[in-house]
Amino acid sequence: VLFALSTSHEIGLAVTGALFITYALLSSFVFPHYWPNFPGRKGLRWYIPLSCLFFVAMLSAVVVFGRENKVASAAATTTSTQTTTTAAPPSSGKYAGGDATSGKALFTSLGCGACHVFTPAGSSGPIGPNLDDLADYAQHAGIAVDDYTAAAILTPPPKYIPPHTPPYPNNVMQPGGGHTLTDQQVKDLVAFLTASP
Ligand code: HEC
Repeated sequence: VLFALSTSHEIGLAVTGALFITYALLSSFVFPHYWPNFPGRKGLRWYIPLSCLFFVAMLSAVVVFGRENKVASAAATTTSTQTTTTAAPPSSGKYAGGDATSGKALFTSLGCGACHVFTPAGSSGPIGPNLDDLADYAQHAGIAVDDYTAAAILTPPPKYIPPHTPPYPNNVMQPGGGHTLTDQQVKDLVAFLTASP
């Protein structure tokens, strides 16, 4: 925990702690040794309030100096999420001009839905990755989603295969899903698969 604290707070905590421990040791071993009556009846008048003061000081030091820990680690978490979330590259436009409606018809007639879950197509095939999350896969791969989708269809395997138990089979998805696709058909499929819901 101490390592997570900034130096100044660490020092504050350490100094208060050291004072507290020194005080405790002095009053339990050193003072009674030289002054057997310690703290004595008169001494109690300052000894009790002083002990309380030290106790409160130690508690507040932990509260005050220790608090930064939470703030700092919260800040650290925020920074790390920000650095790991890389924005997906924008669409390359290479597959512009596709028609999502034709893409939907193709998806069904070519049998893609037999292997893939894809909600806009109403399909629930259990063999391959869930295509509802295609944008996430492209982001993992750091490739624009339209380029990513076209490559995944034309030249499998894709760059990112989501973890799954058992792992998705690697040579089941044939190029074009087992079909020779025209350029327009690829564009239509890309348009359908990458359309924002
Ligand atoms: C026989 C089952 C099967 C058929 C049919 C099939 N796929 Fe696939 N698909 C898979 C599997 C398995 C994977 C992941 C592993 C791989 O490709 O090596 C995959 C991967 C994909 C991916 C990439 C997913 C990722 O992880 O990024 C896309 C996109 C895709 N398929 C689209 C299609 C389209 C469009 C069709 C229809 C033309 C189709 N698939 C037909 C099984 C199939």
